[in-house]
Amino acid sequence: MREKIKVMAVFGTRPEAIKMAPVILEMQKCKEIMPVIAVTAQHRDMLDQVLHLFSIEPDYDLNIMAKGQTLFDITQRAMSGLDDVMTREKPDLVLVHGDTTTTFAGALTAYYHETAVGHVEAGLRTYNKYSPFPEEMNRKLTGALADLHFAPTATSYENLLNENVPKKDIFITGNTVIDALHRTVREDYQFDTPLLEGIDYLHKRVILVTTHRRENLGEPMRHVYEALRQIVSEYSDVEVIFPVHKNPKVRKVVSEELGNLPRVHLIDPLDYEPFANLMHRAYLILTDSGGIQEEAPSLGKPVLVLRDTTERPEAIKAGTVKLIGTQKQRVIDEVKYLLDDRSEYMRMANTCNPYGDGLAARRIIDAILYRYEFSDVRPQPFTIDK
Ligand code: UD1
Ligand code: UDP
Repeated sequence: MREKIKVMAVFGTRPEAIKMAPVILEMQKCKEIMPVIAVTAQHRDMLDQVLHLFSIEPDYDLNIMAKGQTLFDITQRAMSGLDDVMTREKPDLVLVHGDTTTTFAGALTAYYHETAVGHVEAGLRTYNKYSPFPEEMNRKLTGALADLHFAPTATSYENLLNENVPKKDIFITGNTVIDALHRTVREDYQFDTPLLEGIDYLHKRVILVTTHRRENLGEPMRHVYEALRQIVSEYSDVEVIFPVHKNPKVRKVVSEELGNLPRVHLIDPLDYEPFANLMHRAYLILTDSGGIQEEAPSLGKPVLVLRDTTERPEAIKAGTVKLIGTQKQRVIDEVKYLLDDRSEYMRMANTCNPYGDGLAARRIIDAILYRYEFSDVRPQPFTIDK
């Protein structure tokens, strides 16, 4: 048996960083693991916000982000940079997270190096290859390349079994985003901006909005923003807080439709700490984000998802998340329903934890130690009842 294994974490965007951070912090405490951190920086500013919050210093930073980058740009630049890094470091295991293009490029590069791949947040599926695009294919292809699959829930575990992934290679861990959330949300949190600290969260109803999905760019997003204009004009106690994604294609339509409207606050992406605490204070959340669908149920916040499909059915089953698409009238109707009907609001505002219990990173490290024979105890799976 070896004394240590070298585990390289590869990531590049904001959500991967938030969800990898607990795994990295846990690896850094583990004497059997020598961690190496390689970021592609597919996102620059939004990645750095997270690295800073969790005090993570990458060993390698490929700095690939370019304005208007295409999927081809990201894939090529990430693979060529990661090839050099893996040639130099020769890791025993490469950990990737989720479903971004960095994820897939990281897994494919590791495979070309004949290096084992561990996939964190494995097994999520919509079974529609263009929705979400390109994430459904990124995670499927990564799954095909992976040797260790860290499925967050029993549903994702079943998906992998149905694709003939050997049972012994799958560990149900919970989602590491809940670990990150537990570290971050506090009842006594104070915002450091006058806007967020100045809002009367008891008497105003804050609708927190985020949009970024590639398949929603352009007209679908425009319809959502038109719906928001109407809502704000009808409800004087509603304040919209919208941290606008850095993608210029998102920012353009947002400012055209929602710029200079009273009670609509367009702000830059927030650091994770204020954002998570803002979710905690919000009345309801409107989003096309994957991660927010997982976090909000833990905080008891209703989420209306601006998409036609989701790979995260657990909170929909639990009743705290609803899939509503992007048609203007549907968005108006669903938001008004939650603003007008207290009992429907209370029904959705139920706190539930289908995605994790805050111990996912520990289970992932335990699974790695088990696989590499540092331990003979297979970690217990995460279950919703825990
Ligand atoms: C990417 C991921 C998506 C993930 C999302 C999380 C892919 C193909 N897409 O989508 O799966 O859900 O991140 O947010 O992997 N930009 C900046 N600064 C930043 C970040 C982005 O200026 O810190 C701008 C750049 O102009 C960049 C553009 O946003 O070209 C789009 O970024 P990109 O990573 O290509 O796509 P996202 O929509 O962010
Ligand atoms: N988030 C953040 N600041 C913001 C908006 C979102 O820190 O202004 C966090 C959010 O809490 C979640 C993650 O970013 O953990 C989700 O990222 P995103 O929506 O960009 O990507 P997705 O999850 O859809 O891949």
